Amino acid sequence: MKATGISNGKIILMGEHSVVYGEPAIAIPFFATAIETTVETTNGPVSLDCFFYKGPLSQAPKRLLNLVTVIIETVKKLDKPLENFDITINSTIPAERGMGSSAAVAVATIRALFHYFKESLSNDVLLELTNISETIAHGNPSGLDAAMTSGTSPLYYIKGQKFEFFPLKVSAYLVVADTGITGQTKEAVENIALLYHSDPKKTDDSIKQLGQLAKEAKQAIQQNKTNQLGVYMTQAHTLLDSLGVSNTILNTLVHTSLESGALGAKLTGGGRGGCMIALAKNKEHASQLSDVLLNAGAKHTWIYNMRKDD
Ligand code: PMV
Repeated sequence: MKATGISNGKIILMGEHSVVYGEPAIAIPFFATAIETTVETTNGPVSLDCFFYKGPLSQAPKRLLNLVTVIIETVKKLDKPLENFDITINSTIPAERGMGSSAAVAVATIRALFHYFKESLSNDVLLELTNISETIAHGNPSGLDAAMTSGTSPLYYIKGQKFEFFPLKVSAYLVVADTGITGQTKEAVENIALLYHSDPKKTDDSIKQLGQLAKEAKQAIQQNKTNQLGVYMTQAHTLLDSLGVSNTILNTLVHTSLESGALGAKLTGGGRGGCMIALAKNKEHASQLSDVLLNAGAKHTWIYNMRKDD
């Protein structure tokens, strides 16, 4: 017997990090990158086959603790024995690059296990189980990654609130560039928590400003004001950099895109590596920006038509 589960990557347009503190974020499911988990019947202990490891689940390395835990918790929830199946994970989401790969692996795997055991899976249970994995991976997840990697519509997301679907339909393109450097979401989230302790007033101001920029970006999107959206994106990057969650290569790629006429540019996701995004006026401009970013050191780029989103 064999069953599969799927999930997709995500791009945070505005509001990473501040979303952890209750401010709004705007995020997009990113179907150019995806994960498929397959569960297949075998005899004996469960084994795992993924990018980082192939072997018995019980001997998986510590870095896979979030995945191992979510498998154990899902099987417990299903009230089934943890034996007699193998799990294979195929992913085109670059790992640890701010595209939500850890949440997406959990989502695809939970779906595959429910499918394999022929049980229906509610969205609440899916998000609850995914957040167990995300808490191990990030410490204090906002829930945004779990929502985006399991969803099919862009969201205006506020932690703990009902999902607000938010079709973008903006006449612009996003260029997503991967620095090729592993991001450090957990460390970046922890760094901001430390800043909150050492300088509460300044940190709180920055977080609130990031939230305000997300609110203003929402209006700019609703009015199709792409220049304005770009300005807010770049302002968000400056704030994120001041909170210590950018790095040299991200700053270089942001700077290079702006010099090449991007309407705005910022890091996306956890930061300290991972990916950045640049807002392009049209398809040709996006293609030019993509070339410029690859020349400046990006390892991979994707072009995303924001108008197509609904
Ligand atoms: O780096 P990623 O893809 O896991 O995105 C993290 C987003 C944060 O806002 C930094 C954390 C969170 O839980 O929302």
